[in-house]
Amino acid sequence: MSNEQLFSLRNPWFRVTVGATIAVVVFSLVVGFIWLPSVKQDAPFQGLWNAICSAAGVPQKWMAGVETIEPAFHTSTAEITPQLLTHPTALSIGRGATLAMRCTMCHGERGMSDANSPNLAGQYAVVIYKQLLDFQSGARTNAVMSPMVKNLSDEEMRDVAAYYASLPRPRLAPGENPPMPDIVAHGSPMRNIAPCASCHGGVDNKAGSPWLEGMPAAYIKAQLTAFASGTRHNDISEQMRNVVRHMTPQEVEAAAAYYAGAHPEER
Ligand code: HEC
Ligand code: HEC
Repeated sequence: MSNEQLFSLRNPWFRVTVGATIAVVVFSLVVGFIWLPSVKQDAPFQGLWNAICSAAGVPQKWMAGVETIEPAFHTSTAEITPQLLTHPTALSIGRGATLAMRCTMCHGERGMSDANSPNLAGQYAVVIYKQLLDFQSGARTNAVMSPMVKNLSDEEMRDVAAYYASLPRPRLAPGENPPMPDIVAHGSPMRNIAPCASCHGGVDNKAGSPWLEGMPAAYIKAQLTAFASGTRHNDISEQMRNVVRHMTPQEVEAAAAYYAGAHPEER
């Protein structure tokens, strides 16, 4: 049998298979775009044509009238990329050092706090910059920090971030490190918790996740509690809120103690 005869309408097999394929396509279009959408008679359903467009993924202008729920607080407007602020100039770091004189009272002379404020030494520049932006926009609020950043310009925030990032970060001497708790090393897949170490350094760093090692335990615990209750809500896409909501108090304790570099029983 030559090819010509095979792909010809005179060939009954060809007619049947092509016909059946077309029938299946038409049937699935009717089910997917007309029948299923029209069965879904919820609030945003406004007629069959809109349901078809909605199923096809066309932008939903007709949804304009539908009420969207706005959060009662500012969310972060900062945009961060892994490349942001990775190559600061010496000039920028120098300007940052001058600005940082205002911050030493709480964050320490070289970015190492002994007042339970977060350390800034060696913190990723992008983290410092983002947090300052959030304090300024009101996405993150703190009685002390909010007024501190009120009058900082964008350049000043970049400079001070570059300065602190250039300082040596706290590290524990080998052997001094307590064993990594399970929650930090493995997370909890059943509760949808990724390992802390996959974002916060240790294994990997996701842009915007702060360096935690050496942070005061009280600070870490306070931040985790604030994320859990929602009083801190500047994490993009609720990355931290979703993690902490499912953590047990013991896990919070263990993670804070580990990052602060002390065994829980030693504190
Ligand atoms: C009077 C004390 C004080 C001063 C002065 C101060 N800070 Fe802070 N800072 C804090 C406290 C307390 C926090 C933690 C806030 C919280 O609990 O949410 C903080 C948080 C931060 C954070 C967030 C760190 C993180 O890991 O999330 C950054 C960045 C920061 N400060 C930068 C600065 C800079 C830059 C200056 C100087 C221009 C400054 N701070 C001056 C007390 C201070
Ligand atoms: C998916 C990535 C991811 C995972 C997993 C993750 N974090 Fe975070 N975490 C972030 C990001 C991003 C931020 C910064 C949020 C923001 O922009 O304010 C953050 C912030 C924090 C802060 C506040 C630090 C500061 O200086 O302000 C603490 C404390 C913290 N995380 C602890 C943990 C612990 C403990 C775990 C594991 C149980 C964990 N995180 C798991 C991404 C993650």
